[in-house]
Amino acid sequence: DKGDYEHFMLKEIHDQPTSIEDTFRGRISMDHSKIFLGGIFDVLPKLIEARRIIILACGTSWHAGLVSEYLFEEYARVPVEVEYASEFRYRKPLIYDDDVVIAISQSGETADTLAAIRMVREQSEATILGICNVAGSSISRETDAGVYTHAGIEIGVASTKAFTAQITVLTMMAFLLGHRKKHIADSDYVQMVKALTQVPEKMREILKHEGFIKDVANKYTNVTNALYLGRGVLYPVALEGALKLKEISYIHAEGYPAAEMKHGPIALIDENMPVFVLAIKDDSYEKIISNIQEVKARNGKVVAIVTEGEKTIRKIADDVIEIPGCHRALSPLLAVVPLQIISYQIAVMRGCNVDQPRNLAKSVTVE
Ligand code: M6R
Repeated sequence: DKGDYEHFMLKEIHDQPTSIEDTFRGRISMDHSKIFLGGIFDVLPKLIEARRIIILACGTSWHAGLVSEYLFEEYARVPVEVEYASEFRYRKPLIYDDDVVIAISQSGETADTLAAIRMVREQSEATILGICNVAGSSISRETDAGVYTHAGIEIGVASTKAFTAQITVLTMMAFLLGHRKKHIADSDYVQMVKALTQVPEKMREILKHEGFIKDVANKYTNVTNALYLGRGVLYPVALEGALKLKEISYIHAEGYPAAEMKHGPIALIDENMPVFVLAIKDDSYEKIISNIQEVKARNGKVVAIVTEGEKTIRKIADDVIEIPGCHRALSPLLAVVPLQIISYQIAVMRGCNVDQPRNLAKSVTVE
């Protein structure tokens, strides 16, 4: 049921604070000192000893995997490879028995992801975990253990709340593992877990400014191309922003790591090219400012997603959308929301079928 919303996608964007709360409900202690992930409790020793984590997924779920690569490496100090399931299954990958494989899939039915974990099973003794939204789905049944996202049914073909729920689970896993491996000190852990529990409230803040975000989107409804830039943990969010726009509005869009721009995409920039830049205040803030200047020097239009109260970028960007400050590791959860709203609004303005875009199915169960 769409309730009062015009489309499922819009409802699902608004569901996110609650679906994230549902995803950590019962899994975080009141004093924020513990994360319980019952579904993987028995395999925690395998995760702690893992030589490597291999993440298999497609589309938006692959983007969630890419976000978690940064978190697993930084906080749990474990090497991570994030693979398109469709590529992995047709290569001759090396899989070790002490690898932990994580399949991420909203539907739990994606043919390539399912085939990839079957291949892992045939070739190795690696532990296979699933992060699925649909209980009892094929992938959830064929994995050794896993953690469900509790995003609720997602109907819009463009994934929104499943993505943020996946990141929530992966963030909990990375924090838990980092703490167990003693790479995160007790006091930091409590702070980080607490910061995670504050994400839904901050997301509600962003959603309150939906009208403003729509006004920004309205300026860009007639573009034919768009670029999305981000660094570090926000690079996968740039990819996700671009995917959302192309899926539902049929505008060609590409996501890039901001520093890669000068290696090619900068040639595309002219006064018709909007560039959505994820420019929150973190370690790479100064560098992102130079990237924005590079775009402006070529007359590109910059829409920057910035941290509340930011002043420098405000002076140079064409449009600025603020999000509340948060722990850097959690910024993907907040930064993606304005991008979802922008895509939604542009698609609506262009008269596209938002919930059922042409040529796409909600779950790709064929090759
Ligand atoms: O159900 P899954 O998470 O396995 O689906 C993977 C992709 O097909 C899916 O994320 C697709 O890219 C969405 N349309 C993205 O919005």
